[in-house]
Amino acid sequence: MTDQRPFYRLTPEKRRERLAQQANLSKEQLDCLQKQSSRFGNELVENYVTDYRLPMGVVTGLMVNNKTYTVPMVTEEPSVIAAANNGAKRVRLSGGFHAEKQEHQVIGQVIISPVKDSAKCIRWLAQHTAEMIKVANAVRPSLVKRGGGAWKIEVRPLPDYLSVDIYIDVQEAMGANSVNTMAEAVGQYLINEGFPVLTAILSNLYLGSLQKVSCLVQTDYLKTAAMSGLQVAKRIASLSKLAQVDVLRAATHNKGIMNGIDAAVIASGNDWRSVEASAHAYAAYGHPYHGLATWQLTKQGLRGELTLPVSLGVVGGSIKLSQQSKINYQISGIRTSAELAAVVLSIGLAQNLAALRALATTGIQAGHMQLQYRSLAVSVGANADEVDKVVDALKPMDQVDQAAAKKVLQKIRRE
Ligand code: MEV
Repeated sequence: MTDQRPFYRLTPEKRRERLAQQANLSKEQLDCLQKQSSRFGNELVENYVTDYRLPMGVVTGLMVNNKTYTVPMVTEEPSVIAAANNGAKRVRLSGGFHAEKQEHQVIGQVIISPVKDSAKCIRWLAQHTAEMIKVANAVRPSLVKRGGGAWKIEVRPLPDYLSVDIYIDVQEAMGANSVNTMAEAVGQYLINEGFPVLTAILSNLYLGSLQKVSCLVQTDYLKTAAMSGLQVAKRIASLSKLAQVDVLRAATHNKGIMNGIDAAVIASGNDWRSVEASAHAYAAYGHPYHGLATWQLTKQGLRGELTLPVSLGVVGGSIKLSQQSKINYQISGIRTSAELAAVVLSIGLAQNLAALRALATTGIQAGHMQLQYRSLAVSVGANADEVDKVVDALKPMDQVDQAAAKKVLQKIRRE
């Protein structure tokens, strides 16, 4: 008799069995799902089947505010961690990154549907900000006890709607749970006062948590065999300008920055989609979408800057729930959300420097291909002893694809 229970009612083991049956998975594939599963995963998500693994590496020697960090990064893209290390080293040799102190506030929005007399509503709301702050803080007394909580309310008229923006100091957490709870409490208070409240939710554009990092790279550390450091620096500055005026290039420029930021954020156990949402919204905030990091040639060297609104936590949510996340904090030695934001943005700027230097000189493929060939070798089944041999054989070839890699591997095995 087959188990008729709905999928979500099954144990993870039974779910894997059912999937294996439906998708015709082999015994070996089923064993793989089982081997990679964890108790932690089942506690975290609905319909849990197994853990999906991604490679984790580290950026070493990342110098931020005169402290040197080793930071775990999680990514499936072969060149990302290599590029982060490359950029971090050039900046370290030049004195490191400088990160300014960040405020850590998240905005909760209570949205009021179109009303007849919005001027009257705005007046009422402006007169009741103290009450709303009290209502918000009453549902998160522990946050207030730790020195945080709601402290400011602004009313923002939108076309047709009113947004009641609650500024909340979230301390060492990312803040989503607290802010949503507090915004909903204010929403309920306004409903009780007769307002047509449409919704209450945090904003993922963290304008109350702007983090800035900068660095000054000595141009000598940018030179290649074919180009002087000054030439490279000029070309990087020109690429930076291009990302300010062309949206097509800006998207790629920012994707490169987020390669590093996301990888470090994932390893820290934080919500990387919220970091992505905030970064791209900020790139289009107040003016057309543009590059987030900038590079300018100055008399002292190539000056890089990156400012982003980020809310990262070192406690709360799923942070430090898994053993891996705990280990990662032990490796990085990061203790506060401000430190984490400074480090993560420095990785983003390092990543951007390495990408622009490659684009300004040899092009991106020269460095990428070596790493892509390794993935290709693994994808056609090369084992640890065979990968280097496959890569060496692929390097001089004009046409490199899976078929070529397969042929090379077969030849190596025959020999
Ligand atoms: C690749 O993942 C990222 C880059 O395209 C970024 C950039 O072009 O600046 C190399």
